[in-house]
Amino acid sequence: MANDFEGKTALVTGGGSGIGKGVALSLAAVSAQVVVNDFNLETAQATVDEITAAGGTATAVGGDVGKPDDVKAAVDAAVSAYGALHLALNNAGIGGPQGPIADIDIDEYLKLMDVNLHSVFYGMHFEIPEMLKAGGGSIVNMSSILGLVGEPIAIPYVTAKHGVAGMTKATALGYADQGIRINSVHPGYIDTPLLEGAPQQMRDGLVALHPIGRLGSVEEVANVVLFLLSDKAGFVTGSQYVVDGGYTSR
Ligand SMILES: NC(=O)c1ccc[n+]([C@@H]2O[C@H](COP(=O)([O-])OP(=O)(O)OC[C@H]3O[C@@H](n4cnc5c(N)ncnc54)[C@H](O)[C@@H]3O)[C@@H](O)[C@H]2O)c1
Repeated sequence: MANDFEGKTALVTGGGSGIGKGVALSLAAVSAQVVVNDFNLETAQATVDEITAAGGTATAVGGDVGKPDDVKAAVDAAVSAYGALHLALNNAGIGGPQGPIADIDIDEYLKLMDVNLHSVFYGMHFEIPEMLKAGGGSIVNMSSILGLVGEPIAIPYVTAKHGVAGMTKATALGYADQGIRINSVHPGYIDTPLLEGAPQQMRDGLVALHPIGRLGSVEEVANVVLFLLSDKAGFVTGSQYVVDGGYTSR
């Protein structure tokens, strides 16, 4: 895959941890120049330090993806550091409030929507004009199995992740003939810091939901994201790629 990524600049949001970090490291390993955004600038910088220590090229940028000005600043940072933007993973996300709908705090619901759904709108809003200037590009939006099926205790999260899938399809249609491919990725439960500290009984319960018999790894998600960002996926746009150990096939 190395040739597909040489000379390309990629923006990864939420790249200080978990899946975003894994994708940032994988992109740098195949010679992309990576701009790593995270709300937590220290962790974004730690990802960048890991990349540069391995001989790669990367820049860290802070900012809250739920705020349009911060997302614009991340896109601008990519263009000013490397001259153009070709690739993006709109990935930053949070778990958000859980429980019956009547018990969910409305401000917490709105925050979840800002971080998990509106962030993807802001991302594509600012990324696509730069990709058009660069002659084309590829975007992956991070959804979830909960962007395809329901889960009664996570109504705001399920709503946002279904929104990501719909926004991906509609936006992909508008740019399909302009050299920009846009797809969503739908992981099952992945062993990331998001699940750290979860009691063993809860982890066992999550494992049991995956016919493959275990949680997924960051690398297994990163592999699919890199495929979609690469030229090998040249005929793939507007699609939903499921990486879930069989969860949604039951
Ligand atoms: N881990 C899973 O099982 C799983 C499954 C399906 C989908 N996902 C999705 O994958 C994405 C990444 O999840 P992860 O498991 O790697 O989580 P993670 O918590 O390990 O990493 C998320 C990163 O996003 C950053 N972030 C959070 N809010 C932000 C904001 N407002 N602006 C900028 N950065 C922000 C965090 O600081 C963190 O570094 C999320 O969108 C999540 O919903 C995760």
